[in-house]
Amino acid sequence: MRGAFVTGTGTEVGKTVVAAAIARTARAAGDRVAVFKPAVSGLDDYPLRPEVWDHAAELPDHALLRLAAGSRQGDDQIAPYRYGPPVSPHLAAELAGEMIDPDRLRGAALAATESAQLLVCEGAGGFLVPLTPDYLVRDLAEDLALPVVIAAPAGLGTINHTLLTIGAVREAGLEPASVVLTPWPRDPSPMERSNRETIERLGSLPVETLPPLDLSDPGSWPAIHVPFGSPKAASMLRAA
Ligand SMILES: Nc1ncnc2c1ncn2[C@@H]1O[C@H](COP(=O)(O)OP(=O)(O)O)[C@@H](O)[C@H]1O
Ligand SMILES: [Mg+2]
Repeated sequence: MRGAFVTGTGTEVGKTVVAAAIARTARAAGDRVAVFKPAVSGLDDYPLRPEVWDHAAELPDHALLRLAAGSRQGDDQIAPYRYGPPVSPHLAAELAGEMIDPDRLRGAALAATESAQLLVCEGAGGFLVPLTPDYLVRDLAEDLALPVVIAAPAGLGTINHTLLTIGAVREAGLEPASVVLTPWPRDPSPMERSNRETIERLGSLPVETLPPLDLSDPGSWPAIHVPFGSPKAASMLRAA
């Protein structure tokens, strides 16, 4: 499986925007792209009927990913578990009287790739967020074995959160491909520039940036390139 797994330093840090930009870039280059999101929660915060979604900034994650990828996948194929309350997936599932099934997630992710060349997967919350009481976003990233991209804000507090996430990804035996700071201001402050350099130096990985995007117009987004190979293969190559 080729593609990317987009995690982040937390919730509301730009994972969906980064995953959408990656999917859009690949699509614009001619690849057939499938998108995947193990669980969406917080749908209560969106208008009830999809017909009234009149702006992409108001689309829930799975719908924005679909738009960016130019994909025809149905909601169930992109995000097999969808919940109303804005809480961690393991709790949202519990409140709905069910449990997320890791086998179903792995199967759905694999099925999504059947008619696509690339899979762009967005995690839920941060890297150590539980999907079930004992199956974390980290475990899904390991199972899918895609290069991990870390979305993070550009401002104060991001060095620590980003380095902790890089450490957790490496501890899982995966090699993070890059960090993407988003939204990256048109005129970054000395602190924001310093954050970028510091994460690059202490994290030993490339740090990319994504400017503020008009989410309703994927055609206007700049390209963002990430390696789509297998991270395990990459670390084996380095060890050889
Ligand atoms: N480059 C960007 N351009 C425009 N809006 C952005 C950008 N990066 C982040 N945002 C905004 O920040 C908020 C959080 O981003 P989102 O991708 O939904 O985070 P997450 O998926 O981590 O919860 C959203 O309102 C999103 O529109
Ligand atoms: Mg999101």
